[in-house]
Amino acid sequence: MTRPRVALFPGSFDPFTNGHLDLARRASVLFDRVVVAVAQNSAKTSLFTPEERVEMIESAIGGIKGASAIHFSGLLVDCAKRIGAQVIIRGLRAVSDFEFEFQMALMNRRLAPNVEIAFLMPSQEFTYLNSTLVKEVARHGGKIRGLVPPLVERRLTERLRQTPRAKAR
Ligand code: PNS
Repeated sequence: MTRPRVALFPGSFDPFTNGHLDLARRASVLFDRVVVAVAQNSAKTSLFTPEERVEMIESAIGGIKGASAIHFSGLLVDCAKRIGAQVIIRGLRAVSDFEFEFQMALMNRRLAPNVEIAFLMPSQEFTYLNSTLVKEVARHGGKIRGLVPPLVERRLTERLRQTPRAKAR
């Protein structure tokens, strides 16, 4: 039996956007399993806990065959080895993403030469989209429908309403 092709799709996902969803769908065409992995980054202040982010991602990727979500702490390459992923997927929206992604890819390759890094381009309609912008728009009462999955839209609106301090993050 051939080994299943497993891709790890990591990120902060605070929160998961329709651009991330688009990439997860694209990855699922290429791999048997796609594991969306939420990084627990203590250096970053997040609006949602890793568990909340995983729950929202699971709801968004429910219809994608072979897709699942986890959270992890520590090095990304260790997470990839733990789950048996041969490939790490990252999205490239524009040239401006490239420099940081290139640095990370080479560092990850140095740490784990057997784990390949693959870049996927999202659909053109999502090239300007990122989690920070979505939060910024939501904070100021702007419309985020169509930019994030429905559960993320609800949770983001609730969070910003319930926690005035979250408005500053
Ligand atoms: O969505 P983001 O914030 O661009 O994702 C960055 C992420 C989570 C992929 C990156 O910070 C990461 O891999 N963190 C885990 C710790 C690690 O392995 N750092 C070394 C990367 S070279």
